[in-house]
Amino acid sequence: MKREEFLKTCGFACLGSPLLGVLLEGCVSSGKTVGGTMEQSDLIIPVAAFQNKESFRKYVVVQHEKLKYPVCVYRFSETEYTALLMRCPHQGAELQVFGSRLQCPAHGSEFDNKGVVENGPADTNLRTFPVTEHNHQLYISLK
Ligand code: FES
Repeated sequence: MKREEFLKTCGFACLGSPLLGVLLEGCVSSGKTVGGTMEQSDLIIPVAAFQNKESFRKYVVVQHEKLKYPVCVYRFSETEYTALLMRCPHQGAELQVFGSRLQCPAHGSEFDNKGVVENGPADTNLRTFPVTEHNHQLYISLK
C-alpha cells in the first residue's frame, strides 16, 4: 500500500471511530465555565453566558466559592434549562462534562443532560435545581 493510500484509509477509519465522535462532541459542544453570583439561595448567571457568536452554547458550568461542586446548566431552548449538581451520587467525585453527557472520572458512571444515570456503578440520578429566567438572568434555586 502506498503512503498516500495508507493515510487516506487511516484518516477515514479514525473519523468513523466512536471514540473520536465522543472526543469531537466534547470539543465542538462549546461549553463554558463562568462564575455565578449568589443572592440568598439563588445562584445567578446572565442568559448571555450561553451566547456564542450567533448561536448558543449547549451548557455552562457555573462555579462559586460557596459551592463545593460546580453546577452544569444545560440549555434546551430559550425557556428550558436544566441545572445539575456535578457531584457523582456514587461516592461524591466531581463529574466532567462531555457535550451532552457527564462522566465520573472515579469509576465511570455516566449521566445524560437531564441528570439521569445511564451507566453505573451510580444507581441514582444527579441532583437537579429549578431554573427560572428574569430580566435576562437565570436564577438557579439551590434550596
Ligand atoms: S464516585 Fe462516581 S462512579 Fe464512583
